[in-house]
Amino acid sequence: MSERKTFNFSAGPGTLPESVIRKAQQDIWDIDGTGIGILEHSHRGKTFDRITEECEASARQLAGVGDDYAIFWMQGGATSQCYFVPANLLPEGETADYFQTGKWANDSIKEVPHYGTLHICGSSKDKNYSYIPMGDEVTYSPKPRYVHFTSNNTIMGTEFPAEPDAPAGVPLVCDMSSNMFSKPVDFKKYGLIYAGAQKNLGPAGATLLIARRDLVADPVRPLPEMMNYKNHAESEGRFNTPPTFAVYLMNEVMKWVIGLGGTAAMAEINREKADVVYDFLDAQDFYIPHARKDCRSLMNITFKCPTPELDKLFLKEAESKHLDGLKGHRSIGGMRASMYNAFPKEGAEALVSFMKSFAHEHASAVAN
Ligand SMILES: Cc1ncc(COP(=O)(O)O)c(C=O)c1O
Repeated sequence: MSERKTFNFSAGPGTLPESVIRKAQQDIWDIDGTGIGILEHSHRGKTFDRITEECEASARQLAGVGDDYAIFWMQGGATSQCYFVPANLLPEGETADYFQTGKWANDSIKEVPHYGTLHICGSSKDKNYSYIPMGDEVTYSPKPRYVHFTSNNTIMGTEFPAEPDAPAGVPLVCDMSSNMFSKPVDFKKYGLIYAGAQKNLGPAGATLLIARRDLVADPVRPLPEMMNYKNHAESEGRFNTPPTFAVYLMNEVMKWVIGLGGTAAMAEINREKADVVYDFLDAQDFYIPHARKDCRSLMNITFKCPTPELDKLFLKEAESKHLDGLKGHRSIGGMRASMYNAFPKEGAEALVSFMKSFAHEHASAVAN
């Protein structure tokens, strides 16, 4: 049992596996018996060679992709990928299709017109991004260069139930920051995936990329060297000094997922945890869930109390019960319970137990 009393529902940086943090504590002092801690090792030395190779192998194993995909990491967060993607992949005069499913999707969308033509192929803006556009709500442009989507909308609490059906031969580009390796995904259907580490993979500082080599072989325009995917792909994420600790920890977290049984086992665990909260939400009428049922996120659960005053009180009382980080994003308000891979089921149970007693206490005030 963990010595920590607080359940951390933060949307990211979020909860990491206890065993990984404990190992990191040791490795910060002395890793691999080298007499040097991980924070102090050169990124060109043997120890970091080992970490780089392992990190790539762990990601490759979890993604199930072969050598036709490059695996590397960059800095600048997922936010920098908003412009790296069109800068590298979208020639002037050509069109890229984007799903508009929330704030992070919009951040990507904003960058496209600097490089080429934007087409919104599906949008849920009409209902404050509470659903994922599907079926006839989606219209692709005649010849998109790629189709971009955000597989899990961290703020809204929605998740694509499956990847979009892009037109044949058109690469899928995905911001997988908030559900990376949370479930099995057929990565071979994708052209390029990026994920900021600080939710399911490790600490802030690294963004993991998995990209079809042909797509990152050469950018479509001359670019500054640091913006060129090719440089990063060809140098195993060591084009310049990488965030060494973040890479070390990503590897340890991915090994932890592999040890649990990989993404299939992870999905079962995540489903169980999320069901604890969703089953409760479905069986009551005090709290108001945000996401439409068929596109609910397993990672971020969004809901509100009947009034903003009660939201405030809920958050205050939850914190006093060691339920931390539940405040919803300002764009939708209310609450958001983020339960990433390493978040324990006991935390979901503690949340529901608190939600029950809070609703019991305040339901009559609302009815009057
Ligand atoms: C889905 C998604 N994309 C992008 C970002 C932005 O990531 P960063 O702050 O690392 O740039 C976030 C952050 O929460 C996110 O959840």
